[in-house]
Amino acid sequence: MKQILATIINNSEVMPGVYQVELESAEFEPAQPGQFAMVGCGEENLLRRPMSIHRLSNKAGGTELALLYKVVGKGTQWLSERQPGEKLDLLLPLGNGFAINPASPNLLLLAGGIGIAPIYFLAQRAVKEGHSVRLVLGTQTARQLYPPKLLPPEIELITVTEDGSAGKKGLLTDYWLEFTKSADQVFACGPVAMYQAMARQISGLNRKPVHISLEVRMGCGLGICYSCTIKTKQGLKQVCTDGPVFALADILWGELGLV
Ligand SMILES: Cc1cc2nc3c(=O)[nH]c(=O)nc-3n(C[C@H](O)[C@H](O)[C@H](O)COP(=O)(O)OP(=O)(O)OC[C@H]3O[C@@H](n4cnc5c(N)ncnc54)[C@H](O)[C@@H]3O)c2cc1C
Ligand code: FES
Repeated sequence: MKQILATIINNSEVMPGVYQVELESAEFEPAQPGQFAMVGCGEENLLRRPMSIHRLSNKAGGTELALLYKVVGKGTQWLSERQPGEKLDLLLPLGNGFAINPASPNLLLLAGGIGIAPIYFLAQRAVKEGHSVRLVLGTQTARQLYPPKLLPPEIELITVTEDGSAGKKGLLTDYWLEFTKSADQVFACGPVAMYQAMARQISGLNRKPVHISLEVRMGCGLGICYSCTIKTKQGLKQVCTDGPVFALADILWGELGLV
């Protein structure tokens, strides 16, 4: 993990209320999909905010890293107002990341809303490593869908919207189980309610391994403050250092209220 002052190349709205900030630095190191950065969000917002690595690519003159974020409060509002040329203070890479088994030819990826942020990076890596990827993307309405033209063309995309304005109508959790049959591994990022529904649906079924990236409030992101402690079947875990990726079946969803 390193502290890096990266230069903003671009910071623009890609969907309503969702921005992508592209950053450049010669100091970015390799990272795994699912790992995250703690992002300094100005002097008024003392605590850094956790953000998944959305994209990491080598470019002439350095490495480019992108974060995809939804404006929900003071920190992300501050971030959305930053201009090209300004610096962003990051600690990264943090956490464990998603582990793709090289012996898994078929991967099922599930992204609920802004959960596409780390899932995009995972899809890109999986395609590069020769895996076949099916991505199910769920949002409330068509306007919130991640632009398909930005996704790797090799993946099979299935969209689900709550109001039926694009793709299948309903919730992602209404459809995902049928796709698990042909998948060797399942990876997901989305809201806790989505995971709780998934955990209920697969309870007692002998299904493929499902790994999820858990978003909880974090103080330090470094395993120091214990604000991100959760209960799992293996005992208490820190989401920032033991996660954020966990096996869906390992988390005690009924007791998620932070310890
Ligand atoms: C490992 C990890 C990766 C994340 N990756 C992304 C990402 O790629 N893109 C993205 O948009 N967001 C991501 N988040 C959530 C993001 O950290 C929060 O949305 C952000 O910290 C909010 O900061 P704020 O100051 O704008 O909002 P605040 O003013 O702090 O809070 C505003 C609202 O957001 C909710 N909130 C705050 N922090 C979190 C959180 N950690 N998880 C869920 N809800 C929260 C609050 O309950 C409140 O309702 C991630 C969180 C974690 C733990
Ligand atoms: S956020 Fe401080 S220990 Fe995890």
